[in-house]
Amino acid sequence: MNQDQQQLLAAARQATELAYAPYSRFRVGAAVLTPGGVFQGANIETASTNLGICAERAAITHARLNGQAVITGIAVCCLDARPGKDGITDEYGAMPCGACRQWIAELAPGAWIVVSSSNRVFWLDDLLPHAFKL
Ligand code: THU
Repeated sequence: MNQDQQQLLAAARQATELAYAPYSRFRVGAAVLTPGGVFQGANIETASTNLGICAERAAITHARLNGQAVITGIAVCCLDARPGKDGITDEYGAMPCGACRQWIAELAPGAWIVVSSSNRVFWLDDLLPHAFKL
């Protein structure tokens, strides 16, 4: 992992403090790198469980609403995840969910992706090969 990736992970870790996750108790932070700087996001839940938003989608939205539509890197950190046995992914969910992968395919297709539980750098093709497109 290079310095940009480590710094973006630190921003994602900091963003976990903004999570509102009283239902799952699974605090996730994300940060996206753009030419205009770093934008953070965190998961926000509601009592109606399917109405929450993930940290990654919050961060992508944050960047776009600040005029930054080019995303070159994404970092995700879950405070409450435990390391997976394979040392690559996290069996308790620090990898981006399916919905976030679809967002990345459309809104950040060229971005590298790093997660707190692994030293590996992922690309869209690793996470969502043959993505749905219209
Ligand atoms: N979550 C994320 O923020 N990102 C993901 O990629 C996976 C799941 C959140 C959603 C929910 O608030 C909590 O984690 C438990 O599912």
